[in-house]
Amino acid sequence: MKEPLSEFFYQSFHSLAGAYIHIPFCKQACIYCDFHFSTLEKDRGAMTMAIIKEAQLRKDFLPQQALKSIYFGGGTPSVVPIADIEKIIEALDNLYGIDASAEITLEANPDDLNEAYLTELSRSPVNRLSIGIQSFKEADLSFMNRAHSAKEAIGCLESLAKYGFDNYSIDLIYGLPNQSPEDWLWQMEHLKTFDIPHFSAYALTVESKTKLAYLQAKGAVELKDENAAKHFELLQDFAKKEGYEHYELSNFARPGKRAVHNGSYWEGTAYLGLGPSAHSYNGKERSWNVANNALYLKALEQDGLALEKEILEEKDRFNEMLMTRLRLLEGISEREINSFSPVFQRHWLKESRKLLATGKLVQFSEGYRIPSEWRFFSDGIAADLFYT
Ligand SMILES: C[S@@+](CC[C@H](N)C(=O)[O-])C[C@H]1O[C@@H](n2cnc3c(N)ncnc32)[C@H](O)[C@@H]1O
Ligand code: SF4
Repeated sequence: MKEPLSEFFYQSFHSLAGAYIHIPFCKQACIYCDFHFSTLEKDRGAMTMAIIKEAQLRKDFLPQQALKSIYFGGGTPSVVPIADIEKIIEALDNLYGIDASAEITLEANPDDLNEAYLTELSRSPVNRLSIGIQSFKEADLSFMNRAHSAKEAIGCLESLAKYGFDNYSIDLIYGLPNQSPEDWLWQMEHLKTFDIPHFSAYALTVESKTKLAYLQAKGAVELKDENAAKHFELLQDFAKKEGYEHYELSNFARPGKRAVHNGSYWEGTAYLGLGPSAHSYNGKERSWNVANNALYLKALEQDGLALEKEILEEKDRFNEMLMTRLRLLEGISEREINSFSPVFQRHWLKESRKLLATGKLVQFSEGYRIPSEWRFFSDGIAADLFYT
């Protein structure tokens, strides 16, 4: 029997969609990173043309409506010339149209944000930057094998206003080996000096096959979960005191400055992902491109696509909804739970009751959320509620 699509599917499919473009190049490998990237320079020009071709071949993936957000992520998009970024934006405009108020974000690393690059960026349609600061401390940056210095991190933040960038975000990483609570507080004091509109703070995670995993396995570094949990608590206090909304597990914004594009992932609206390793979702189907530059380019050269896809079952959509919404300040709405079939509603009632009793979940007028004291454990709590 064909599965009925939830009301939420129709909402997702008909709200304005976003496009994600994965730029798979970096200057050097950071020790913790398992995102897809290559440090080779040779395919950079060809990649832009292949991404544009992919957008053309897949133009029916999204509804024919103007895009509400475009996000260049990576890898390191700022290693690519602005002219190439503009070509991709122009192609998307020709295919879908871009909403007049669309958020167009570029992830950039501090060592690329020199005067010439910022001047060109300020004349381009890019209207938001996400800057990979990670730490303001030289020793941390060198431990992580970042390509930039602390001086460059501070320098680029100081010059943003001069080029008209008042909408930007920075990324920080906490829970580093040997990072004390005082060290982490020091990072937040630095953040405070720049009146930053939005920031993301991630707990350092050991991903397999990274240099960090290798160092941990041979006992050269030690990561303590309780350290990260303590840093998260300090982060929550800092955000509250400084007027940031802690609107998603790892994301903090001044009022009105929440990230529009990332909201597509967290709220379940449609997005088209272009470039090697990029994922796409249209409410019904999920697809992911091959995480290999040579294979991606070869397929596009032959007017083909190198992707795999799956039709999401209602169970997958339900579990995904739990995983993303429970990371949000607003949590899950009763209405969304009721848009699933009765079997899922019954499952929710049974399983959520246990968590409500322990205080890991709280009910409010429109739905359910994880209270701040349990928020660090959001992913584990969501997994406890999965329909298996
Ligand atoms: C994949 S990077 C892309 C942006 C850009 N290349 C940069 O380095 O800032 C996106 C963010 O993910 C975070 N990240 C990646 N791997 C991580 C890990 N293993 N643990 C914690 N944060 C991680 C970093 O903060 C990084 O800024
Ligand atoms: S963290 Fe960013 S710069 Fe470092 S390897 Fe990953 S994508 Fe590249």
